[in-house]
Amino acid sequence: NQLRTVVQAMPKAELHIHIEGSLEPELIFALAARNGVALPYASVEALRAAYAFTDLQSFLDIYYAGASVLLQEQDFYDMTAAYLKKAEADNVRHTEIFFDPQTHTARGVAMETVFNGIHRACQDSPVSATLIMCFLRHLSEEDALSTLEAATPYLDKIIGVGLDSSEVGHPPEKFARVFARCRELGLHLVAHAGEEGPPAYIESALDVLHVERIDHGVRVLEDAALTARVARERIALTVCPLSNTKLRVFDQMKDHNLVQLLDAGLVATVNSDDPAYFGGYMNDNFIATFEALPLTLAHARTLARNSFEASFLPAEQKQRFL
Ligand code: ADE
Ligand code: ZN
Repeated sequence: NQLRTVVQAMPKAELHIHIEGSLEPELIFALAARNGVALPYASVEALRAAYAFTDLQSFLDIYYAGASVLLQEQDFYDMTAAYLKKAEADNVRHTEIFFDPQTHTARGVAMETVFNGIHRACQDSPVSATLIMCFLRHLSEEDALSTLEAATPYLDKIIGVGLDSSEVGHPPEKFARVFARCRELGLHLVAHAGEEGPPAYIESALDVLHVERIDHGVRVLEDAALTARVARERIALTVCPLSNTKLRVFDQMKDHNLVQLLDAGLVATVNSDDPAYFGGYMNDNFIATFEALPLTLAHARTLARNSFEASFLPAEQKQRFL
């Protein structure tokens, strides 16, 4: 159909994708067999049937279980290469990929294994791909600081750091020191905020952590003054529509606030978050939103343009896409 043709033809950047969330059930089972890992699901179908989420935490529990099959460098490579193939097919020209090293180092996987597997796949892809290391906010700041320390030999392989996992009860302020350290190191800074958490978390991500983009941020509209500020400062929001409906941030796609975000002058972008768990990659996210919401072709162009503007590509490379 026409919508799919238009969406497919648009070059775009993806700015919010957790690589562990791109692990498809088939690959989970293949890696489990390859590594001799026992899974608490009898089949690919049984695993997929468990993807019935009620909120962020119900998803995270299954997402961390799925990641338990990743042990060798080649596993991280294969997962990343599979995502980059999907991105290429969706005409994603540039992607900034999140990964969660603590999910793996806590299981005894070496930092080197995680970095080398994911990074090598990025180098082997025709898609421009950079990496953002995320700290898990349900763990302590001390754990984040030692993760940063352990990542020191590999900092040339990442462009920035982020903050993800269980939001409510883990405000940005908890990570003030580790973000200050990352800022001194010249890393780009982003954080999940305002997905399930209140607008106050968006504000403290900006004022305490000094992040350059807000991941999700859909709850910003509950605070008019903050909305005006985020628009004025052109702080991008990396919105993930299919994720928001699967995790019940919005009950249905027709209830999603993407149109209101754009109409408020916010630099919103569309992203897949955890495509293997939420039912679709980039183009599926565009199509699902455009089918459910009163979005126009002009909105589509704005979203694609925003994705490059909000990226951490060097100015001259951004220019090529704008
Ligand atoms: N980790 C993976 N996906 C996430 C999300 N949507 N929110 C917080 N942490 C995540
Ligand atoms: Zn996310």
